[in-house]
Amino acid sequence: MNTEKNYLTFALAKGRLANKTLALLEELGISCEEMKDPKTRKLIFVNEEWRFRFFLAKGPDVPTYVEYGAADVGVAGRDTVLEENRNVYEVLDLGFGKCRMCVCGPGSARDLLLHHERIRVASKYPNIAKEYFYNKKHQTVDIIKLNGSVELGPLVGLSDVIVDIVETGSTLRENGLDVLEEVCGLSARMIVNPVAMQMERARIQELVLALREKITLNEAAKAERQGL
Ligand code: PRP
Repeated sequence: MNTEKNYLTFALAKGRLANKTLALLEELGISCEEMKDPKTRKLIFVNEEWRFRFFLAKGPDVPTYVEYGAADVGVAGRDTVLEENRNVYEVLDLGFGKCRMCVCGPGSARDLLLHHERIRVASKYPNIAKEYFYNKKHQTVDIIKLNGSVELGPLVGLSDVIVDIVETGSTLRENGLDVLEEVCGLSARMIVNPVAMQMERARIQELVLALREKITLNEAAKAERQGL
């Protein structure tokens, strides 16, 4: 056990992304038994062998912890990383949590998009929506921030379209909405505090390389299983 090293602190977006990240780390022999206890009320967990410290946070708070250096490393969805737009380095695509950020709405809204009408856009991601419409499409729109169940927007007449995450597409289908445009692809990302990147470069690079190798191997094995 190396007690001279500083702890490297990880903020993980709680839920599926944290579970998948911990499973991937475990494949590298980095485990955190304490964290698996579903009854635990502890907030911070330590792996002494690696001098790693983990805590779980709400997704949108992960980039905040990392920017301020309260965590050296974070794992959150690309949606969150883009929306929060914090001063952090994105170092790795973890390959899971894959989905798409899309403009969605009723088929009738296609024309409004095509003709660059001044439409109302509801989204949990106002910054991503703004970047897409203003800077990429050069379309002036009114953006309305919602906190969830965004598909309601066009259904109850709050907005013409939404900018939201599409994974399986079933929420859209069940509500008679379509993907109208794709904004970008999404997946879990590893982010790093810029100072930590300087101070702990070797340890972080070693971890990123090991993870990248493992992800590539897992993807190759998956493709082989699927006969690709
Ligand atoms: C997300 C997203 C969509 C849905 C997409 O919502 O905002 O509503 O999942 O998934 P699908 O394409 O597989 O149907 P989430 O469940 O996180 O809840 P929210 O609507 O309250 O944000």
